[in-house]
Amino acid sequence: MTQNSDESPRDLQHFWIECLDCKTKTSFHPLDEVCPECGGTWRFARYDLEQMRESFTTRISSHQYNLWRYRDLLPVTDSSFQTRLNEGWTPLFRAEQLGLLLGLDQLYIKDERQGPTHSFKDRQAAVSTSVLREYHLHQAVICSTGNVAIAFSATCARAGIKLWAFLTSLVPPEKMHEVAIYGTKVIKVTGTYDEAKRLAAEFAHHRGFYIDRGARSIATVESMKTLAFEIAEQLALYLPERTPTRWQAPDWYFQAVSGGAGPIGVMKGFRELSALGLINSIPAMGVIQSEGCAPMVHAWKAGNEVADPVRQPNTHITTLTTGDPGRSYTHLRKQMLAANRGVMESVSDEEAFRALHLIAKLEGLSVEPAAAVAFAGLIKLAKAGVLKRDDVIVLNCSGHAMPVEGQLLAPGWAHDIDTKEYSLPEQPKEGLLAALESLDESLVRRILIIDDEADARRLIRRVLEAQGAYLVSEAESGSAALHDFETHRPDLIILDLMMPDLDGFDVLEALKRKSEQSDIPIIVVTAKELSSEERAKLEGRIEGLLIKGDFLGDDLIDHVDTILD
Ligand SMILES: Cc1ncc(COP(=O)(O)O)c(C=O)c1O
Ligand SMILES: [Zn+2]
Repeated sequence: MTQNSDESPRDLQHFWIECLDCKTKTSFHPLDEVCPECGGTWRFARYDLEQMRESFTTRISSHQYNLWRYRDLLPVTDSSFQTRLNEGWTPLFRAEQLGLLLGLDQLYIKDERQGPTHSFKDRQAAVSTSVLREYHLHQAVICSTGNVAIAFSATCARAGIKLWAFLTSLVPPEKMHEVAIYGTKVIKVTGTYDEAKRLAAEFAHHRGFYIDRGARSIATVESMKTLAFEIAEQLALYLPERTPTRWQAPDWYFQAVSGGAGPIGVMKGFRELSALGLINSIPAMGVIQSEGCAPMVHAWKAGNEVADPVRQPNTHITTLTTGDPGRSYTHLRKQMLAANRGVMESVSDEEAFRALHLIAKLEGLSVEPAAAVAFAGLIKLAKAGVLKRDDVIVLNCSGHAMPVEGQLLAPGWAHDIDTKEYSLPEQPKEGLLAALESLDESLVRRILIIDDEADARRLIRRVLEAQGAYLVSEAESGSAALHDFETHRPDLIILDLMMPDLDGFDVLEALKRKSEQSDIPIIVVTAKELSSEERAKLEGRIEGLLIKGDFLGDDLIDHVDTILD
C-alpha cells in the first residue's frame, strides 16, 4: 500500500537524483528508496549549479534568515509547505575562553541548541516534513536515539502528519515524554539502536509509510547542508579581511557523529558552495565518536574502507549509538581522503562529561553529553597538536543538556536555605543574611593570580571559582602583588613569568628572600618556552609548572587541590 502522491514539481534539468553507483538520473520522490537501474540505495540530490552561479547570492539576499533562505538548493519547491518554527540561522559565536585555554585564536561555536527543539536535528525535521507535505504524505516513521524523534514530532504536529517513533528503551524517559507530548505514537524497543532501525524499516515498508533513513534520505542530507551555508555566511562577518566574497569556509568543522548524516550533508554543502564559486576550500572534518561505540574511528585508524559494526555499544551517551554506520563511513572516508584532510577520533565518556562541565562553566553553554563528545574531541586534538593556533575552527554544538540535566550534577549542587527557619520576629533579615554570609565560610583558601594579561587572569579565576571552593584575588603586576602580600597572605600563588616591570622570576626572588612569605606554594603558568637556565632558576622553588594553551581546567584544579590538601 502506498500513499497518494503528486509528481515532482521541479524540472529534471535543474534538480535531479543521482545514483552514487551507476550515476542514473531520476526525478525526486520521497518514497523512492532505490535506483531503478541498479537497485543502489545511495543517491544524492543534484542541482544545476552552473546555471545558479550568477543568481544564487542575489536570490538569497532577499530571503529571510532561517534555513529556507537556501531553498533554491533544497528539495522543497512550494513555499506554502515550508515549516515555520523558524528552524536554522542559529548563532555562530567565538568561544573566547575555551580558545584561550586551548591556544586557539579562531574557535567558533555554531549553537544548534537554539533551534526550536534544541538540537541540530531540527533542520532534518523541517526539510523532511516539508517534503512530506509537498508530496501529500500523511504518515511517517522515525527511529531515533531521542533528538530526531523530538524534532520530527514538533514539525509533524504542525504539519498534521501522523508520526510513529521507534525509540530504544535506553532513551532517557525525559526525551520519550517530550516525543509523546506532541502526539507521536511511541514504540519502545528493547534492543540496540540498529535493531530498532531494522524493526522500524520493516514496519514502514509494510505500511507504505515514509521512513527517515539517515544519510540515505535525500531530505536529511540536504537539510544538513544548510549548516554549511550558514557557517560560511556567518563566518564571513567575523573574518572580512579573509573574505573577498561574502562567504568563508572554516579550516575545520567538528561534530559528534553517530549515523553520519550531519558531516555527510555538511560536506556536500561546502562542495556546492565551492562549485558555485563562493568559497575556495573545503574544511577538514573532525569526526568525533564515543569510545564505547566508535566503529568509524576504529576503521579510520586501521585504514579500513569498511567499518566493522559494534554489536553492543558500551557508552552512557545513548544519542550516539549507531553501531553499524554502513556506507556512511565509507562515503565520509572517501571524501576526507580525497580532500586529504580531516580526522576521526574517539573520546571516553569521562572525557565527554569533563568537557560538558568545562563548557558550561567557561562558556555558559549547557550542552548535552552527545554535543560534549565533539568538545572533548576538539580538546584532545588541540592537546595533541593537530590544530594550529590560527586555524579557523567551527564546532557544531549539536544539542542542549535540558532533557538530561537532572543526571549531570553531583549531590550537594545547591545550598539549602529554608526561610521559615528565619521567620522569628526579632531577627528575620539578619538571620537570613547571616546564613547567606556563611556561604563564603567554606572558601577559606586564598589564591592570588599574578598575571599582566587581563584575559588570562579572568580565565584562571573562572576555572578556579567554578570548579573549586577558593577565594581568588588578582594582581596585574609583580609590584602590585608584592605590595598586596603585606596585608593579605595567600595560601597559593599562580604566577605568570613574562610581565613588564618585575617579571615572574623577580617576584619569585623577592618572595623567597622574605622568610614569612618564602613557604607560600607557587604554580607557574606561562606561555614562554623555557630555556634550561630558566628551568634551573625555578627548580625546587615552585610546586607546579603549566604551559598556557596546553592545560585544561582539570589539570589546574588537580594541581591546586594536591598542593592545598
Ligand atoms: C545532539 C546530537 N549530536 C550529534 C548527533 C550525531 O549526528 P549524526 O546523525 O550526524 O551522526 C546526534 C544524533 O542524533 C545528536 O542528537
Ligand atoms: Zn544505480
